[in-house]
Amino acid sequence: GTDEREAAFYAIVDSDGRIEPRDDMPEAYRKTLIRQIAQHAHSEIIGMQPEGNWISRAPSLRRKAILLAKVQDEAGHGLYLYAAAETLGVSRDQLLELLHTRRQKYSSIFNYPTLTWADVGAIGWLVDGAAITNQVPLTRCSYGPYARAMVRICKEESFHQRQGFESLLTLTRGSAAQKAMAQDALDRWWYPSLAMFGPPDTGEQVSGGHTEQSMRWGIKRFSNDELRQRFVDMTVPQSEVLGLTIPDPDLRWNDERGHYDFTAPDYDELFRVIKGDGPCNAQRLAHRVAAHTEGAWVREAAAAYAAKQRAKTQT
Ligand code: ACO
Repeated sequence: GTDEREAAFYAIVDSDGRIEPRDDMPEAYRKTLIRQIAQHAHSEIIGMQPEGNWISRAPSLRRKAILLAKVQDEAGHGLYLYAAAETLGVSRDQLLELLHTRRQKYSSIFNYPTLTWADVGAIGWLVDGAAITNQVPLTRCSYGPYARAMVRICKEESFHQRQGFESLLTLTRGSAAQKAMAQDALDRWWYPSLAMFGPPDTGEQVSGGHTEQSMRWGIKRFSNDELRQRFVDMTVPQSEVLGLTIPDPDLRWNDERGHYDFTAPDYDELFRVIKGDGPCNAQRLAHRVAAHTEGAWVREAAAAYAAKQRAKTQT
């Protein structure tokens, strides 16, 4: 009966096992995973835009090759994640339709503009740094296909993070103008990067509030605030190596807590951006929908080719 099936599900989750596509799972678990994995996949492909903006203007052939490869990696991450979501009984077409009609979300961070070349470095260092902090625990997620997709994604993200840091280090060791450009990028990307971790754990502004249930299910291993703190603790020493100043006058080491104290991001701004009212939301979505529409002939050609191959093998 239902109780037995639910008990079997919790036995796997509680013993830190993996739920696989053919296993019984509560409908709400399946829905939560579709929401999170789809949102994650959408973030990867929308995330190609802010950096793609600089491919044609990279300062050297070497930087251009690195950036091209990185943006291509993001497309690959999107594809693994859509494939992971498909194991839960939805199709990629359905998920793209939900993205294009704003019924599913993507990460707030990709609604900010990349104004200078230093922003590309800052995205690698901070945004990919935040992404890794959030995603390494997801390699232990209770849903097998998502956890396994995360292993490769995290390896690539960690490479992206280091290339961003190295690119910024080159700027901070350059001319005064280059160093100022790096500082300006940090000033603009710091708080949006902190906000990526989502709403705070407690307080009136907890929106959605999926954390407790997702932790019970072994989807999330840490709360949003725990991961945000981990990111700050990891990033402050790196900013010192770069010789850059984090734009937070209240940032200081707290000996008692064994962590840095820091100013929280503006969560009202986060909620505005999530609702569609960030600096680039309209542009990002319009660009995505246009790319999809203009790519229709490629999908049709691929489907026609596949049908032809099938017909050949059947005769
Ligand atoms: N941007 C957009 N939406 C967000 C963000 C954000 N930064 N943070 C939280 N939200 C949304 C949640 O999706 C949720 O939406 P809903 O109420 O419509 O369901 C709501 O705000 C409440 O947040 P939580 O209860 O904390 O939601 P959840 O448990 O899903 O946690 C988190 C949010 C941490 C982002 C989680 O979904 C997650 O770990 N996702 C996988 C990682 C990911 O998507 N990364 C994408 C950016 S990294 C990159 O692509 C390079």
